[in-house]
Amino acid sequence: MPVFTLLAPLAPAPVVVAPAASRARQNGTTRRHFVVKTKLVMDGKNFGLSCSLGMEDDSLNLSRFLDKLFREWEDRKARGLFHHDISCCETKVLPGERNFVATLIEGRDQKKRPTEFGMNQVLQPFDSGKFNFTKVRPEEVIFRFCETDKDSAQYFGGAPDTISASSSAILINVSPIGYCHVLLTPKIQDCLPQRIDEESFLIAMYIAREARNPFFRVGYNSLGGFATINHLHFQAYYLKVPYPVEKATTEKLTTLVNGVSISQLVDYPVSGFVFEGGASLEDLSDVVAKVCIFLQENNRPFNVLISESGNSVFLLPQCYAEKQRLGKASQEFLDMRINPAIWELSGHLVLKRKKDYDEASEPNICRFLVEAALSETEFQELKRCVLDFLTVSDACNLDIDS
Ligand SMILES: *[C@@H]1O[C@H](CO)[C@@H](O)[C@H](O)[C@H]1NC(C)=O
Ligand SMILES: *[C@@H]1O[C@H](CO)[C@@H](O)[C@H](O)[C@H]1NC(C)=O
Ligand SMILES: *[C@@H]1O[C@H](CO)[C@@H](O)[C@H](O)[C@H]1NC(C)=O
Repeated sequence: MPVFTLLAPLAPAPVVVAPAASRARQNGTTRRHFVVKTKLVMDGKNFGLSCSLGMEDDSLNLSRFLDKLFREWEDRKARGLFHHDISCCETKVLPGERNFVATLIEGRDQKKRPTEFGMNQVLQPFDSGKFNFTKVRPEEVIFRFCETDKDSAQYFGGAPDTISASSSAILINVSPIGYCHVLLTPKIQDCLPQRIDEESFLIAMYIAREARNPFFRVGYNSLGGFATINHLHFQAYYLKVPYPVEKATTEKLTTLVNGVSISQLVDYPVSGFVFEGGASLEDLSDVVAKVCIFLQENNRPFNVLISESGNSVFLLPQCYAEKQRLGKASQEFLDMRINPAIWELSGHLVLKRKKDYDEASEPNICRFLVEAALSETEFQELKRCVLDFLTVSDACNLDIDS
């Protein structure tokens, strides 16, 4: 079974004066206790997010991977590399049946790197003239890693014998929406465009598995599905609440010969698929990647959530950019400037105006998600094509305008 070997950080750490709290965390013998100032509000009652977003006592049994990632991310935070301090941003769980999560990050999109490509094409070639991740500041790189066949004892054993020229990297997201928000860039130096291939998707699945923690999810946004950079990347962060999509009811559609089962979400504002099971993580990964590639080739924007440490994967097609382009998006939500990327579709909404945050409610978030998602008819048609593709490998024609 392949494991990852982490390479040394690309750049030596600049000398910084770490705050005392942060230094205490470096002491392996002290209990990990992240101080998270964010308030979590559930059913009108506040409770400290140190027991929800952060880490504490019983939940502190972090995998070596996540432990290392948290420490490195805290180090980057102490060095002041982020555009905002996410631990000071308010987050609340909304009352209701689904418990949507809302985070207020005022003015986030002004500081974000701008989207630099058309929203109407899922497959676009890599453009050397546009921003790419090889040029991020060295201190934004948390670590590089590559696959090895060695056993996991060497997982953090420093540089491996041979360093693959195209190692993958984990970078901080300088504009985080959650604790430990990072970007995973498979084979960073290869400058692949934002599109799923089997090998890269498997790397994302391995990362989810290595984290061994259901609150650390890995996500993907296609072009046209609110990815903002056309250089292959996944995202991940830690949020210690179940996402509404993870709690949604599902209905089994089929089980493939390799044991991977495909279900659909029922009674959730966004229609989508759930993939689970199979004899191995590789089998599951392979099926999801194939469906993503099928959607890409048919110019269908989509978003992916790798959940439960890689044991289940949500694939959510969407059409919000298309609705915006055709002038069919409602003004109320356009004014809110929410981009329905994977986190939003999964039920964690990042809001940019205090007013929207204060007024956020389950009914209005549901209405927004319904707008972003495919209609029932569109989803049924897509479902038929996806199932045909997987079972008879004879894809039907997916005309986006039909
Ligand atoms: C680490 O923690 C242990 C136990 O709390 C303490 O005895 C030790 O002095 C600490 N070491 C440093 C370097 O702070
Ligand atoms: C921590 O996790 C490891 C591996 O997942 C497990 O073997 C161990 O029993 C856990 N320890 C505690 C205290 O839960
Ligand atoms: C990545 O971006 C830099 C400029 O930021 C550019 O010099 C380089 O050529 C780009 N890489 C590729 C493969 O286009």
